[in-house]
Amino acid sequence: MKIVQVSTQPIAGQRPGTSGLRKKVSVFQQPHYLENFVQALFESLDDRAGQTLVLGGDGRFHNRAAVQTILRMAAAHGFAKVLVGQGGLLSTPAASAVIRKRGAYGGVVLSASHNPGGPDGDFGIKYNIGNGGPAPEKVTEAIYAGTQRITQYPIADDVADIDLSRLGEQRIGAMVVEVIDPVADHLELMRGLFDFDAMRAWFAAGNRMCYDAMCAAGGPYARAALEGALGAPAGTVINGEPLEDFGGHHPDPNPAHAEALIAIMSAADAPDFGAASDGDADRNMILGRRFVVTPSDSLAVLAANAGRVPGYRDGLKGIARSMPTSQAADRVAAALGIPCYETPTGWKFFGNLLDAGRATLCGEESYGTGSDHVREKDGLWAVLFWLNLLAATGESVEQIVRAHWARFGRNYYSRHDWEGVPTERADALMAALRARLPSLAGARFGDLLIEQADDFAYTDPVDGSVSTRQGVRLLIAGGSRVVFRLSGTGTEGATLRVYLERYESDPALHDLPPQDALGPLIDLAEQIAGIRAHTGLDAPAVIT
Ligand code: G6P
Ligand code: ZN
Repeated sequence: MKIVQVSTQPIAGQRPGTSGLRKKVSVFQQPHYLENFVQALFESLDDRAGQTLVLGGDGRFHNRAAVQTILRMAAAHGFAKVLVGQGGLLSTPAASAVIRKRGAYGGVVLSASHNPGGPDGDFGIKYNIGNGGPAPEKVTEAIYAGTQRITQYPIADDVADIDLSRLGEQRIGAMVVEVIDPVADHLELMRGLFDFDAMRAWFAAGNRMCYDAMCAAGGPYARAALEGALGAPAGTVINGEPLEDFGGHHPDPNPAHAEALIAIMSAADAPDFGAASDGDADRNMILGRRFVVTPSDSLAVLAANAGRVPGYRDGLKGIARSMPTSQAADRVAAALGIPCYETPTGWKFFGNLLDAGRATLCGEESYGTGSDHVREKDGLWAVLFWLNLLAATGESVEQIVRAHWARFGRNYYSRHDWEGVPTERADALMAALRARLPSLAGARFGDLLIEQADDFAYTDPVDGSVSTRQGVRLLIAGGSRVVFRLSGTGTEGATLRVYLERYESDPALHDLPPQDALGPLIDLAEQIAGIRAHTGLDAPAVIT
């Protein structure tokens, strides 16, 4: 193996966002773009020589080329071994599972999650540390700093591409590349948590399910678990073949983007259970027959029913949710007598709580749910948890959720996304909101009394690190909230997210259309933030 030093120079804008560095494919295809970032990453890992890395991605366009480049750079940096998913594929939760099970030093995941793929779509790269979770901010900031002072990077020059289809060991110089089954470790983990016999019986009894893998990384995992281990009929998983452009779809499992599945679950002969996962299979959407479960409710329901599932039978240590996620989980935590942590948006903020044994279940409004079994959110895990509940109770998705509302009350919830806002305009809106905060606390708007108005800040209870400016919150008497924040995962302009929540304890009022139930809060958000005037837009692009 010959190592060459390639001269380069810093490229602006390589600061990782909510979940790694995400850009258009065309940006990543520029000379040195990927290499510069990988160099800054490897260089930030002081004791990398002789270590084992995990590598894989969601299979989107540019995945395979990037895998080969990263392997050649890893060899040049002296890593002893890289475990690569067959075909270059590893879902985000599977990468986390492999890092943990094999005791790897860390992992590189190539994904832009739920963003569209293909030559005109997005690409992304993120680094996970040895606990299997997303790198914390001090690591991503060190990587960013590295990208800003880079002058050269080493790479193995005279080596053939690794055959990613062939399981087993190959070599680049002294470095071993082991191509692994991307599904096996994760499936084994699932078997240890859930009652596979009960779920198999549920399918054998004729119950039906539709899992939409959205032509993304989740397909092989869902097929192996549902159609393989659980004996569900072939065809239970739709769009199960990962494609480089996700079949032209937007692989984001929400009612706006998973139209085909919503249509199937709305039909007269709809299956009993519907689910979907995103590009890298860490997100999930849960549906009943003609019934949509919000991610916030899903977290609360799983927490309230955890005792019915083998892996969680001994109880939960705590629950954690991101700040914009509804407070439904807080009510469950209170009933269980366990803590509920409120963190900033981004799965990385759950890592310390999980590592310290303070939380068992975590969830976000952005269709992410997970537990301490890995350090990422996990789409298939959430789906199997629900399936286990269906099998254990014999109830439908709708029955389980309605019983939950009857017991705890309903947290009506919706998120309005204002997409493609010019960055200066979005910043101006947020600045104006922040400037108004002092005058909003105590203000009354019609029936709504704002009890508290602030910019969310978080002090990590484990390491004491502080994250400020995490979203503007209006806390309204009675448990309602309006939250404003700018997305940290987009690649074009800014996306303003407006999160709306209303608590309703009266079961007679649990059947309102959510947008109607939230109407006064939607009006309040416009009145206070002047969204239309600031953005120049008429309506949110996506409502979930
Ligand atoms: C990714 C992250 C999540 C986050 C979501 C939305 O999926 O892993 O933790 O909640 O993006 O982030 P955004 O900044 O776009 O609202
Ligand atoms: Zn994702």
